[in-house]
Amino acid sequence: MSKMSYEKPTITKIDFAMASKYGSPMKAQRVRTHIDGVSIHELTHTYGSPLFVFSQRKIESLYTTLHTAFASRYPNVTFGWSYKTNYLNAICRIFHSLGSIAEVVSEFEYQKARSLGIEGRDIIFNGPYKPYDALKIAVQEGAKIHVDNLFEINDLEKIADELGVHIPIAIRINMDTGIYPQWSRFGFNYENGEAYEAVGRIYTGGKLSLVGIHTHIGTFMLDPNAYKIATTKIMRLKEEVERDFGAIIDYIDLGGGFASKANLKGMYQSADVIVPTADEYAHAITDTIHLMNKSEHLPKLYLETGRALIDEAGYLITSVHGYKRFPDGKKGYILDAGVNILYTSSWFNFTVELDRAYHGLNEPSVLNGPLCMNIDVIEESIMLPPLDRGSCLILSPVGAYNYTQAMQFIRYKPSVVLIDNVGQAHLIKAMDDLATVTHKEF
Ligand SMILES: Cc1ncc(COP(=O)(O)O)c(C=O)c1O
Repeated sequence: MSKMSYEKPTITKIDFAMASKYGSPMKAQRVRTHIDGVSIHELTHTYGSPLFVFSQRKIESLYTTLHTAFASRYPNVTFGWSYKTNYLNAICRIFHSLGSIAEVVSEFEYQKARSLGIEGRDIIFNGPYKPYDALKIAVQEGAKIHVDNLFEINDLEKIADELGVHIPIAIRINMDTGIYPQWSRFGFNYENGEAYEAVGRIYTGGKLSLVGIHTHIGTFMLDPNAYKIATTKIMRLKEEVERDFGAIIDYIDLGGGFASKANLKGMYQSADVIVPTADEYAHAITDTIHLMNKSEHLPKLYLETGRALIDEAGYLITSVHGYKRFPDGKKGYILDAGVNILYTSSWFNFTVELDRAYHGLNEPSVLNGPLCMNIDVIEESIMLPPLDRGSCLILSPVGAYNYTQAMQFIRYKPSVVLIDNVGQAHLIKAMDDLATVTHKEF
């Protein structure tokens, strides 16, 4: 048995069996020794800590559940993998192998999709900022361009002249779906007629034609009814522009936004209770298309789901570097992972699991990261047993938006591992080092 480490004695009031605002001190510890059959210790021993770990099995099961929910109701559906949610090559490849096309919002993401072998026609090019040259390449390669603003319409007309072609495009629209704040800065507004006028403007120029209508109403949307409203408004606009401008709307795109099973801060009920099922989202959208459709053919349906397809497949293993007792009596842990690599910690309370069962009573503890910055707090207060230097914590779900938004700030970005369907771990991104960080400096 290893010798217990010495800690200066302190007196902390712990109410046995009485729940405090932090929960019960007797609460069972959440222990996770493995991810998809691979031991946590083996992972950190081989790849170091902190370490992002993704489960291919979970990705595939999330994809299958959501895709089946839609395809069983509406066969003409295609998913576009939202690159910004997680654009690690290995992750994108999984989604493409499952049948997703790519949804990108910058020239960098466009190039990444092309470098993974995705044809232009299988790329949805969204976003408010599309540099002229990038737009021109996307047109030449037949990408699905979703126009955000009037400047882009002008650019596209210029490109049409330069290339001597007629360009099929889609527009992004924003709208009131009963969810506030409204995401009204992207695309053209539906309610005030801006979207309809933009289509008029497109047809006045005579160089472009409208083939798609797109919206993305927000992220972590907990109300399927918002999608019902969005679909209704898209279908209404479709009917109007087909009637008034002779447009033939080949597809509608309902964007992303479905919630993952993550615990949003300030939410009292657990994600298991409040997050709608894939079927509820699918029903809201597909039922409305069937109900609203007035033309001979049903439009193709695209979805750009990010978060709900990857969040729960991602874990972060982090290790205790040390701890101290703060003046208010709370125990403060120094971890090797902080807000530099856990961007979503501002909005979500992660599930925290331990690599083994620990002796001792749970007590309110703070999880601080490694940064020399006061804001580097992952959890303000969590009930934990006494942990030692080297103890591992496994945080989840962290698969969406954390790696792509991880900052190279103070420390290097960590390695990323994917555990495949047969339980084999693969390094899919090595940790940054001095060379990767400084190679463009002079
Ligand atoms: C245009 C667009 N599509 C798709 C997504 C993915 O959204 P989510 O991860 O909420 O599914 C986003 C994210 O904000 C987006 O801006």
